[in-house]
This record gives sequence, structure tokens and C-alpha cells, in this order.
Amino acid sequence: MNNPAPPALQPQTFEYLRDLLKRTSGLMVTTEKTYLLQSRLLPIARRRGMQNLDQMVASLKMKPDKGLTDEIIEAMTTNETYFFRDDKAFKQLRENILPALLKAREGSRKIRIWSAASSTGQEAYSMAMIFDELLAARPGWAYEIVGTDISPAAVERARRGEYSAFEVQRGLPIKLLMKYFSQTGQNWTIKDEMKRNISFRVFNLHDSFMPLGRFDLIVCRNVLIYFDDNDKRKVLTGMKGVLAADGYLFLGSSETILGLSTEFTIVPSFPGFYSTVPLEETYNRLGFALPAARPLTPMKVVSTEGFSRG
Ligand SMILES: C[S@@+](CC[C@H](N)C(=O)[O-])C[C@H]1O[C@@H](n2cnc3c(N)ncnc32)[C@H](O)[C@@H]1O
Repeated sequence: MNNPAPPALQPQTFEYLRDLLKRTSGLMVTTEKTYLLQSRLLPIARRRGMQNLDQMVASLKMKPDKGLTDEIIEAMTTNETYFFRDDKAFKQLRENILPALLKAREGSRKIRIWSAASSTGQEAYSMAMIFDELLAARPGWAYEIVGTDISPAAVERARRGEYSAFEVQRGLPIKLLMKYFSQTGQNWTIKDEMKRNISFRVFNLHDSFMPLGRFDLIVCRNVLIYFDDNDKRKVLTGMKGVLAADGYLFLGSSETILGLSTEFTIVPSFPGFYSTVPLEETYNRLGFALPAARPLTPMKVVSTEGFSRG
């Protein structure tokens, strides 16, 4: 038998939840998402002995409850992620961006990376695997990856670094699975030595980034899509503030800074990557020739008939 449809939501309940999510985490919920809101939040209300979301919101209005608010945010965030999500971009990261950063950091031999919506950790561990291979022949280097996410459950899973057979089949080449993971029953756990340079913590992208320190590369993928333009702008400006003067920003394939920020340089041959130095210098650093400007084709005037001056 099909589950009965959840009871209709009062408009003021929807508005309260929409505003709460927007204010606390930046997540945008439109009226088309009412069903999603119901299906994800009703179990939370019921676990607390309430019949529906109207009752849950009435109780929140009467007495703010941080635990309940966190549960609501947790239930509404989408934690979808997988290893090396977007092969082409990760290939450019491995072959161009990180080698350029290594070259620029020959002096300090230290690199810091922020995985700014790290979910269950696959993105951060993908980068650690790339580093492990890149640095194998370069003794004396140190890298640090800081993974942050608003979801405590996702952060906890990222710290454990344990993935199901299904999760390791998504994007992770078998060679890397064998090299960097050990089998634990049905699951696979990233080896301890791969965790040495990574830390995960709960962090809301609506908070100040300053306490996190400075980064050479910020990887902020597939989270800005959930924010409105104003919040996207704030996040981008904040990231510029904690990025090294010659650092890079790496966004998801469906995200862009276009129309939101002029503080980064768009790098045409590297979709998803944004630089903090002018284009020509960026290409130089990446060891790439600046794409030649296409010569303007002179316009041929076929006929001036019908046009009059003045
Ligand atoms: C779709 S996942 C993206 C994971 C990974 N970056 C990737 O591209 O595969 C989006 C993540 O953003 C997190 N998130 C949503 N709002 C956030 C906020 N305000 N601050 C920090 N993380 C947030 C969610 O918890 C979720 O884990």
C-alpha cells in the first residue's frame, strides 16, 4: 500500500521554516519544495511526539530549540558527493593547478587547502590521494586539508573515512581503492596515514572565515547552488579574504562567479577554477599558452541602400 500523502502545510508554517533555513544556513526552499520539506521534516516532528509540522513550528515559535533547529538543517541539506566528482576538473587539478602551486611554494614547501562543504569527506580524501602521489618524489613537503561542513553527521562520517562498497564504486579507480583503503567487513576505510594531513570540523559558511586561517586553494563545490545571490556574494568575498594572494578557488561545474564577483579571474581553459591574479599571469603560472585572441573578421558592407544620414 502507498504511504498516505502528508497533511497540507499551513502557509505560515512553510514561511517560518523557509526563513529559519535561510537565516541559519543559507539554504533556499521554494514552494515547489514543500513536499520535500514535509517528507524530510515530518519524521523529526513525529519522533518528538508531534503530529505535524504546524505543531513543530508552533513549539519552535514558543521556545527556540537549537537541537531541533540543527536537526531541521541536517535533514534539509543534500550531502550527495563522491570521489573525484567531475573527472575532468580533478585531472586539471592534478596536472596543472597543484603542480603550479607546488612550484609557487618551493620556498615554504607547505600547502593548505580548504574543502569548504566537505560532506562525508570524499572530496578531501580525493585531494589527499592526489597529493600523496604528487609528493611521493618530493621529500620535505607538507600539505594540510581542512574539511568543513554544516552537518555534524557528515563531518563525523568524514572523520571515520569509512565507505560502503557502493560509495567506493562511485568515482574511485580500483587502483586507488587498493592502495589507500583497507576492507573492513562490507565497507572500506581510508588508511590512517591518509588521515594524518586532514582534519574535519563543523562549520557554517555563514560564519566568519577568518578563524580558519589562510589557504592556497579553496574547494567550494556544489553548495553555492543552494544559496541566493546575496549569500553567494558574501561567501565569495569571504573566501577571497582568506585566500593567498596567488591562490585558486575551485567551484562545482554548475557554479560560477559570473555576475557575483569581480574579485577572481575566470580561467577559460579551466572551467570551475578561478584565480586571484590576472589572466596572463595565471596562464604563465599554469604553464599554459594564453589562447590567441581570434582576429576580428572585417565586416563587409554589402549595400548601403536604404540607409540615409542625419
Ligand atoms: C551537495 S554536498 C557537496 C559535497 C562536495 N563538496 C561535492 O561537491 O561533492 C553540499 C554540502 O554542503 C553542506 N552545506 C549546506 N549548507 C551549508 C552551510 N551553510 N555551511 C556549510 N556547509 C553547508 C551540506 O551539508 C552538504 O554536505
